[in-house]
Order: sequence, then structure tokens, then C-alpha cells
Amino acid sequence: MITSSAPAKIILFGEHAVVYGRPALAVPVGGLRTTATVTENPAGKIWIEAPQIGLATELSALRGDHPLAAVIQGVLSALGVSVPPPFTLRVESTIPVASGLGSGAAASVAVIRALAAYLGHSLSVEQVNQLAFEIEKLHHGTPSGIDNTVIAYERPVYFVKGRPIEILEVGHPFTLVIGNTGIAAPTKQSVADVRRLWLSDQRYWESVFDEIGQLVVVARRILESGQPQLLGELMNHNHALLQKMTVSSPELDRLVEAARAAGAWGAKLSGGGRGGNMIALVPPHLAEAVAGSLKEAGAVSIFLTVLGTSDSGEGDVVQNARNMS
Ligand code: PMV
Repeated sequence: MITSSAPAKIILFGEHAVVYGRPALAVPVGGLRTTATVTENPAGKIWIEAPQIGLATELSALRGDHPLAAVIQGVLSALGVSVPPPFTLRVESTIPVASGLGSGAAASVAVIRALAAYLGHSLSVEQVNQLAFEIEKLHHGTPSGIDNTVIAYERPVYFVKGRPIEILEVGHPFTLVIGNTGIAAPTKQSVADVRRLWLSDQRYWESVFDEIGQLVVVARRILESGQPQLLGELMNHNHALLQKMTVSSPELDRLVEAARAAGAWGAKLSGGGRGGNMIALVPPHLAEAVAGSLKEAGAVSIFLTVLGTSDSGEGDVVQNARNMS
């Protein structure tokens, strides 16, 4: 039996502009995970189970573009395995699906690692990352690659599309509350809409992306050195620019406003937008109050996570995620 797992992620700054070559900051949330387990199948089948999405079927019954079928085929062809041995793949997750927490990329990374190991191969982190990126492209059109990168490396990253990753060293604990609107919004759609805007006035939108890029560079410095109030202001600024890009929504704005009103230093949507999650940077003693205010404003799930601390002692890995719903 082979088991492998991968974390959720949140984008702290720079979503959408990252598709246009600007930097973005993202962190893994190790307390929320997807686990893939591969075991022998005595009945001689390739059997797939994913209880969270109600899936229990033979691989041959899945369409080729189903995310799990695509990732299995991707691994088999990358490893040059044309006749795979029978196996059962079980995928389980504590990451809410379709909410901007990277559940899809986490499933890809966990399955790639577990299946490759079952087939006797050990892939480097970068090989896992590249394979997961191929799957992201199938489902998201023109992804920047930030999701698969932060999840495969499981490290906070300063990410620029097409460049080797830079690990972000978080030098101070930052308390974040993550609020989920409960609205599943396809990232592909919001990315396509931003593309339409950009095509309509490239000069203007390039200047907006530049503004986001500059803000990300400052945010990185603050994450490395401390000063949460300043970071909160940058979050508010980034959210305003995302609103301009039409990727916020009344529900996201309501949660962002509720968090600020309850004392958050700053708040913004996180990920593709239109639905999914927002994040609020909070003084630790106000975390409960912010969570309560988010709940009242309609959040369907709420997690607390502290950046810059971990059980393992690695100072810059987010390992914890407390459910505050
Ligand atoms: O919706 P998410 O959390 O998968 O985030 C996507 C981030 C975007 O910048 C909107 C798209 C991308 O590929 O980088």
C-alpha cells in the first residue's frame, strides 16, 4: 500500500496579474490535505474511489478528461507504462472543493506521487510539479502554475510564471482567517473575463497589473520582516484592484467588509474570485470576533491559520488550519 498527500493553498497577493507575468505570493495550508492511497486490486481491475465527490468506478468507465483519469493517464505516459498492473486508487480530502483552496491541484499532486511510487518510480518535486501543471492546463486553460507549484513544493513561494521558484521566508507569525462564500466559481471563467478586459485596453490593464506587481514586492518584504498592519493595508489595496478587474462579487465584498469591520488589519479575495474564499489578516486576539462576523455575513466555512509557525519547527511553513465554522 502506498499513501501520499498534498496540502491546500491560499494565494496571499497577486492572483490574476500573475497570469500576465507579475509576481504573486502563495502559501500551503498543511492542515487541510488530500490523500491518495494506491493498493493492489485482487479482482484485477483499475478501480477509483473518491468518496467526497461520490465516485466509485472502474477507470475505463471514466471519460478521458475527468481530472482523475487525466492525472492517471499523465503519470502512466510520463513513466512509459502502457499496460499498468491492476490497482485501487482511493482519494480522500479535507479541502473544500471548488473554493480556491487548490483541491484540484492537491489531488493531482497526491495521486502523481502515490501512483508513481506504486509503479516503482520516485519522481523529483519538479517532475511532480510539471506533471501537475499539465493537468492544471487541461482544466484551467492558461494557468500561471502557481497552484501546482506551492502545493508540490509545500513551501511559501514568491512565484513568477516560467521562472524557478523562490521560497518565501516568513519572518513573523501572521494570523489569517479564511472565509468561504460557498459559491463554486470556475477560475477558468474569471481568467477568461480578465483576458477580455485586457484585450479591450491593454495599456490600462498592464498598468493595473504593474501596480499589483509592485504591491507584491512590498508585501514580500513585509512578510519577511513583520509589520502586519502594513500588510493588511496592502491586502485592502490588492482587493480594490481585483474589484476593478471585476473578479470580486457581492458575497466576497460582504465578507471582506465584515472582516474589516470586526477589526481585521486587511482583507481580500483569494484565488480566481467571483466566489470561493477570502482571507483576512487579523490581530490574534480578534480572530474569534472576525470569524463570528464572517459567519454572520454568510461564510459557509471558516478556517484559522497562522503563517510563520509550524509543528515541525520550520519557521515558514503553514501547517495548522483550525476549523472555526
Ligand atoms: O482559483 P485559484 O485559487 O485556483 O487561483 C487561481 C489564480 C489565478 O491567478 C486567478 C489563475 C492562475 O492560474 O494563476
